[in-house]
This record gives sequence, structure tokens and C-alpha cells, in this order.
Amino acid sequence: MAKSTSNFVCQNCGATSQRWQGRCESCQEWNSFIEETPSSGIAARAVRGAGKGRVFALEGLDGENREAPRIVSGIAELDRVTGGGFVPGSVILIGGEPGIGKSTLLIQACATLAKRKHRVVYISGEEAVAQVRLRASRLGLTSAPVELAAETSVEDILATLRQGKCPSLVVIDSIQTMWTDAVEAAPGTVTQVRGSAQALIRYAKTTGACVILVGHVTKDGQIAGPRVVEHMVDAVVSFEGEGGHHFRLLRAVKNRFGPTDEIGVFEMTGSGLSEVSNPSALFLAGRDSSAPGAAVFAGMEGTRPVLVEIQALVAPTSLGTPRRAVVGWDSSRLSMVIAVLEAHGGLRLGQHDIYLNVAGGLRVSEPAADLAAAAALVSSLTGAPLPANTVYFGEMGLSGSLRPVAHAGQRIKEAAKLGFRSAVAPEVPRESGPLTVRACGHIASMVADIAAAGA
Ligand code: TYD
Ligand code: MG
Repeated sequence: MAKSTSNFVCQNCGATSQRWQGRCESCQEWNSFIEETPSSGIAARAVRGAGKGRVFALEGLDGENREAPRIVSGIAELDRVTGGGFVPGSVILIGGEPGIGKSTLLIQACATLAKRKHRVVYISGEEAVAQVRLRASRLGLTSAPVELAAETSVEDILATLRQGKCPSLVVIDSIQTMWTDAVEAAPGTVTQVRGSAQALIRYAKTTGACVILVGHVTKDGQIAGPRVVEHMVDAVVSFEGEGGHHFRLLRAVKNRFGPTDEIGVFEMTGSGLSEVSNPSALFLAGRDSSAPGAAVFAGMEGTRPVLVEIQALVAPTSLGTPRRAVVGWDSSRLSMVIAVLEAHGGLRLGQHDIYLNVAGGLRVSEPAADLAAAAALVSSLTGAPLPANTVYFGEMGLSGSLRPVAHAGQRIKEAAKLGFRSAVAPEVPRESGPLTVRACGHIASMVADIAAAGA
């Protein structure tokens, strides 16, 4: 085995170097290198001898290839994101800013599972047992038989877990507070986080317990500590929310056992997180449909249709270079829509500041939002409000042509459910239900429609 000589580890991104560096070459962070002794675990295993690997057929014997039953948490929005419940033996990393509600969500999940006769262990490295109890009592969950421990040593935790029946779910809050004897680095360093995660993952794989690791995120939204932890786990879920809003989005970033485009929507209330099963109503609440520059986009988040309002503000600029600012959407996508509107829609936007906002703090990543964004921009520029009770969806090509998008039927059904009466889309879908769908094949015809309505 090659001798490991990299002794300095960047505490921001996990890059290693043989020499100390003032600035990390891979993440450009200053003063992030700390000397760490490399883990001795791998070398020890190499000495113990090889030849213990066993191979298995892809298809198991009768009954063996049946999928292990998932552990359904009973919190529908959480189960939706995990792909139908926790997979036994899997490890999930859940990241989010401090105070967003990670501990609250997990203690609620633990309580519902424990009430269904699962053994559930919640290990806090940040709060004392009394504090966790206090939170649980505030949430009205004190009767649930969840086992609590305030512990940061991975070896002690594993010893605790091995006593008694194998737990169905183990929550480690948070992975950054854990340390293991196997590596000789200070607690909180990248090497410790990685070593602790490795030990806990090995525990999950060998016993079949599902382990959830809570991870802090840095100011730019990355899960702090090495990216390698993200590669080691089976699923990475992020818990997001906007400062001023009460609702929170749970989003799978990676999932070996399920889809990654599902979102779970929660609302933070005085008594914990409550599920929001109809997010469209929440995102559209308080909308002023008579104001120019607002278009309702009928989007899809995973398998669920979600309606959001896209707001645009187009105003003459007083700067040499006009400002372009986007919240909740891709800025290069906005540049493209602006370029197409100028080239094929006959609009002049070069002397205008442009702001685009997805209301409610949702992040839209679908190309299907092009048409709604374009409609909002045109409406704001011309000052003509868009027709009331109308939703928009469709992808825009560079030629100005509009292309149909998937799940048109579902988008329209959701819009009808929320009281919308018409839709503008690239083509009339087969089932349009009670909605009148106006087919709009080119961006120029949409611009003409909006201008005609405003005149
Ligand atoms: P917490 O779960 O501790 O966040 P994290 O573990 O992600 O750091 O959530 C703390 C925040 O949630 C805190 O600002 C208070 C708020 N909160 C409520 O609004 N209602 C509640 O019932 C609870 C328990 C917390
Ligand atoms: Mg917490």
C-alpha cells in the first residue's frame, strides 16, 4: 500500500496537501489547513490479511430478493422525500442552516416511529438530554418511548446501540460534534467528521438500522465538512427555508433509493413542524392578481404539481449597465429569456433594470417556467396586468418557439382545483378538464396578446 503522506487537510473542503498552505487551492479559503494524522484504520485492515470478501448473486434465493420493507415515518411529507420511507441499513445526511428546524423535524419523526413500536434512538451532541426533553414536551411528544442520549464519542454510541434490540432508526445530531478514537485529529476537524461518519455507516450496513446524520451547512449552503461524507451516505436531504417565511422545504439532493426531485413542505408553528399537503395554496396566498408583472406558473415538483407566482419588475435604468437580479430562478435562464424576448418578441430591454422573483421562497428549476417568466416580464414592461385566473407553462426555445412540457394534464388539474379558469401553454393537452387552454406556439403571439389586453 502506498504510504500516505498528506498531512494537512483543508477544514472547509477536505482537500489534502503535503505542505501547509495559507490558502486552499481547491476552495480558495484562507487559513483553512490544519495538520492531521492520517487515519490508521485502513492500514490496520491491510495487515489483518486479505481474502475475506464474499460474492453474492445479483438475484437472491427465493424470498431473499424481496425488497426489505421500508420504515414509514408516518410524516407523509418526509416519506415523500425519502422515496416512501427509510430503507433499513441506509444512511441519510440531512443538512440545513442552524435554527431551520432539523432537530425539531427529527424528534417528531422519532416520536411517530417510536409510537409504532420501533426502537428509536436520538443522540444529541449539541443539547443536553434535558433540553431535548424540553423541546419534546413543547411539541407534546413526551409520551413517545424514544431513547435519548447526549453523547459525542462514536465508540460509546455504538456500545449503547448494541445493547438490546437493534434500533430501527438512529438519529445523530450532529455529525460535526462526533469524534472517534480511530483517528487522532481534534474533534470538529474534517478527519474526525469523516472517521465518525465511516464508523456510523459501517454500523448501519452491518446491523440494518437506518441512521440519520444531521449536518451543518456553511454560509454558502454546502454541508460543512468534507464533501466525501456526501459521497459515503445513501441519501442527502437538505432542509431549507427563507428567513421571513414560516414554511420549510425538504429536498432530496441525492437518493440511492428514491427520486431526487420530490419536495416535502412543512410549516413551522408554535407546536413544531406541521405538514403542508397542498403547497400551491400556500405559495399563492396573499397574491394580488391585478398587479402587472405577476404570472402564475403551473410547475411540477417531483410527482406533485405546485403552483407558484413568478414576479417581474422591469424599470428604466439609471446605471450604465442595467441590473439583472433573480431570486428563486436561474440567472442564466433569465438572460436567455430576455435575449429571446428582444430577438423574437420585439421588446427593447437593454435600458431596463430587471428583477425576477419566485414568490414564497421556492426555487424553480424547470425549463417549463420560461413562458411564465416571459409573461411576467412582458406584463411588467407594458404595465398591462395578465388575465386573472390564468396559469402559464411551457419551455422556450432560442428561436422563440414554445415547446410542450411533460405532465400538462396534471398541471392543469391542479390549476382547476385552485380555481383557475384558463391556461396558456404551447399546445392544448388531451385532457384539459374545465380549463380553457390557449395554445401559444411562439413567443411573439404571447407578447401581442398581452399588449392587446393592455391597450
Ligand atoms: P431547531 O430544530 O432547533 O433547528 P436546527 O436543529 O435546524 O438548528 O429549530 C429551532 C427553531 O425552530 C427556533 O428558531 C424556534 C423554532 N421552533 C418553533 O417555531 N416552534 C417549535 O415548536 C419549535 C420546537 C421550534
Ligand atoms: Mg439542532
